[in-house]
Amino acid sequence: MIQIPRGTQDILPAESYKWQFIEKKLNEIANNYNYKEIRTPIFESTDLFVRGVGGSTDIVNKEMYTFNDKGDRSLTLKPEGTAPVVRSYIENKMQHDVTQPVKVYYLDPMFRYERKQKGRYRQFVQFGIEAIGVEDPLIDVEVISMLMTIYRSFGLENLRLYINSIGDQDSRANYNEALVGHFKPSIHEFCSDCQTRIDTNPMRILDCKKDRDHELIQTAPRMYDYLNDASKQYFEAVKSNLKAIGIEYEVDYNLVRGLDYYTHTAFEVMSDAEGFGAITTLCGGGRYNGLLELLDGPEETGIGFALSIERLLLALEAEGIEIPEPEGIDLYICTLDDKAMEKASHLIHSLRANGISCDIDYKRRKLKAQMKDADRKGAAYTIVLGENELSAGNVELKHMATGDSKTVHLDELVTVLEEER
Ligand code: HAM
Repeated sequence: MIQIPRGTQDILPAESYKWQFIEKKLNEIANNYNYKEIRTPIFESTDLFVRGVGGSTDIVNKEMYTFNDKGDRSLTLKPEGTAPVVRSYIENKMQHDVTQPVKVYYLDPMFRYERKQKGRYRQFVQFGIEAIGVEDPLIDVEVISMLMTIYRSFGLENLRLYINSIGDQDSRANYNEALVGHFKPSIHEFCSDCQTRIDTNPMRILDCKKDRDHELIQTAPRMYDYLNDASKQYFEAVKSNLKAIGIEYEVDYNLVRGLDYYTHTAFEVMSDAEGFGAITTLCGGGRYNGLLELLDGPEETGIGFALSIERLLLALEAEGIEIPEPEGIDLYICTLDDKAMEKASHLIHSLRANGISCDIDYKRRKLKAQMKDADRKGAAYTIVLGENELSAGNVELKHMATGDSKTVHLDELVTVLEEER
């Protein structure tokens, strides 16, 4: 039997309402913040991620689904959404848009070849936003506030927002130099990845899952001490404005993020909820001031975040928050014989055309089983159609919740149901 690929999941019909509920809310919040949807392809040139996300990252080194198409082009299923949005921004010359800054969001499947674990999939859906075209602490605050609004709107409470500043390119370079001085003499005590990171991206050592308890990680120089004045000022402005609108945060000086493009503000949201599992990061984001130029674009900057629906669902489950089940159908027509079934199939056609949701039993089960089915489908009303009803032209319209029923002529069914709703 062919099975589903490892690390992927089917969203079955009984569960899909949860996804629809979440997606609807995310669309609403994005509109409320005046972000417009952008849709980029599922695959992009491999080079976009190698250059954009960075050759020293786990994503590029280990996790990409890369293949050659029949024209021998190297393509990659997108592992994240920022580089594609920036590619599109540059390609469509959005720097000239009158609606600058460009504020966009996406809800897209992403692909990473990762070890399967609770909350970690090889295909997952990210909701992400990007605000491109301004460098202003106040837009950083807007982005973070939207993120927190999203989580709060679902009723999540056990959350922690961590922020840090990675500074500008100069601060970052000075800091990396300090880290090399700190780690280099003892780098042989670290994992093989960190032994590479010391040359390619020393900051990522701070983020290593294997070596996180090493004493040198605890005693490492703090990024903050290497921020130049402009970077410090920027960070202070972000923090004070977050405070001003009542957003609580903690500064985590070791927060460096796993992608290479970050500068200045970086942030993550973690869940504190018991039973969440080992992976508690719900969301990550930050500012990327050099990314556009790195991808041959204009000298412009951006900021954004992405969260996966899969982890949002886990967080809701961990906090015991239930997503409301959708309402059932308006009417279920039970039928007693083949003739009634045929008539019912015509009837539902016109009922549906009038906006009344309804169903019949194509399995042609016995009346009792049909009643059960009506119940399962959450029908507000039922009617039974048989020989008598067809000849009289009248049916008993039964309200399922109260058990009340009344006689209705078949021709008036639409009008009565519309009134009853
Ligand atoms: P990221 O930290 O790599 O950042 O991923 C963001 C979020 O995607 C994570 O916090 C998590 O919710 C979710 N995620 C990542 N990998 C998986 C997985 N294997 N299974 C389930 N969920 C996962 C980015 O992707 C950046 N593009 C975010 C960003 C936007 N930065 C600026 N703008």
